[in-house]
Amino acid sequence: MPESLDTALAQHAYRIDERTRTFLDRQHQLLIGGGWVAPREGGTIDVIDPATAQHIATVAAATAPDVDDAVAAARKAFERGAWPAMSGGARAKLLWALADRIGADAQVLGELETLDNGKPLADTLAIDIKVGAELLRYMGGWATKLKGDSTQIGDPGDFQAYSLREPIGVVGQIIPWNFPLLMALLKIGPALAAGCTLILKPAEQTPLTALRLGALALEVGFPPGVINILTGYGETAGAALAAHPDIDKIAFTGSTEVGRRIVAAAAGNLKRVSLELGGKSPMIVMPDADVDAVIAGVVPGIFFNAGQSCMAGSRLLVHDSLAQHITQGIAARARAIRVGSGFDPRTQVGPLVSQTQRERVQSYIQSGLDEGARLVTGGERLPGDGFFLTPTVFADVHATMKIAREEIFGPVLCISRFAGTDLDHIARLANDTPYGLAASIWTQNISTAHTLIPKLKSGQVWVNAHHVGGPDLPIGGYKQSGWGRELGRAGVELYTELKAVAIALKKPADWLQLKG
Ligand code: NAI
Ligand code: MG
Repeated sequence: MPESLDTALAQHAYRIDERTRTFLDRQHQLLIGGGWVAPREGGTIDVIDPATAQHIATVAAATAPDVDDAVAAARKAFERGAWPAMSGGARAKLLWALADRIGADAQVLGELETLDNGKPLADTLAIDIKVGAELLRYMGGWATKLKGDSTQIGDPGDFQAYSLREPIGVVGQIIPWNFPLLMALLKIGPALAAGCTLILKPAEQTPLTALRLGALALEVGFPPGVINILTGYGETAGAALAAHPDIDKIAFTGSTEVGRRIVAAAAGNLKRVSLELGGKSPMIVMPDADVDAVIAGVVPGIFFNAGQSCMAGSRLLVHDSLAQHITQGIAARARAIRVGSGFDPRTQVGPLVSQTQRERVQSYIQSGLDEGARLVTGGERLPGDGFFLTPTVFADVHATMKIAREEIFGPVLCISRFAGTDLDHIARLANDTPYGLAASIWTQNISTAHTLIPKLKSGQVWVNAHHVGGPDLPIGGYKQSGWGRELGRAGVELYTELKAVAIALKKPADWLQLKG
């Protein structure tokens, strides 16, 4: 184990669980075919604690030959052996067992996640782990409920016709670093419920909880090759998965830019692709909104997870009549947010995930200043080596500015004003973005809410809330926010093919005689 882990923990003033230390201490390899194996080309990735910039672990860097091995193992497990012979009920029991095992391991998973990603341990436990385990349980429920329809067909003759839902096959799943364990569970849950086998590639910045998850999955008895986990870089391991000719589907969450690359790479064998990409989600405040509720809701809407969320409410569109009051209220709350080590129980916002990410966010802040937006508060680094940035609020943001158009993915709120109450005009302002992932409407008028909802080109719309959801509520985007919907029935069906069957019940009429 790198000695710098102790340096990091000393800075956090935190004692980790002995099990966490033992896990960090072990030699991290790739999970392929039910066992841990060394990467063929021997590469490694340094894992950095973003709160202290210390090197806390080293994991394997998979490359194309490891992807080939993992795909071969997943293919074998999909076609033969215990997994395809298992009933939906048996798959459900495995998913529930894994959820229970995750619950029992919550302290270790939580500490690993906070060390790796930086987010507050309380959030990790209450959200990433608890919600993630519930999601697995929910998805386990679908394993016994996937079915087609029986129907009648119009062709002459007498037929029995029906459809079947079958697992799509071997799937590659590439996930980002903002919710490492939650994203892993959100991806593997529906794939396993549907009967697929998978290769999961966590983000290079945050590989630790995926490795721990692999170990827990082996313990609860998933057959070899059903779950394969490859830590590795995007340009090598990720690209090899996206292009692999024996993968049937790729599921990706991350940047829109890489989403486009995935689509291009998938064209070779026309594998199915689902994408959950960027967002620039508006929070629309109507003149009749409950101001206190807006201020209380908008602040976590943007600053939760240090703004590193695809659904972050990064654009606040507020009616002229409330703009000044709400801007002041939000700024006061933003200044009061405690930024610091995720192991300090008082911390509300941790560091950004990496130096690169903080630099990216800071360059957006600079561009906001250059283009004439008004910095109300924030935009500062904290002293020390960690990648901290204080919650930032810009006012007087115009729709043409870069900070209003591009996904920042950090703790930066952009406030713009609008006049009047013409809902078509307001919807045009909200929709003026290449993205369409989420939106929230803040109003006390039920008719305004219902009229505006269908006008918004957004996969999710919340009213008087932002960032709420559950395993049965699908997520996904319009426009360049992605393809497909995850969670809910739609999320499991993403991992299925539909097969149509028609069976002749009588000898059909002679085709040649019909022609004569
Ligand atoms: P990214 O899109 O590069 O990384 C996400 C995942 O894709 C990682 O596992 C990475 O290894 C993989 N990847 C990278 N290049 C790949 C390739 N050529 N083929 C296959 N897989 C590849 O995101 P990055 O660079 O970490 O963050 C950049 C920006 O992306 C952020 O500032 C944010 O705007 C956006 N983003 C959006 C996320 C979302 O939840 N929608 C999550 C993470 C980033
Ligand atoms: Mg990238």
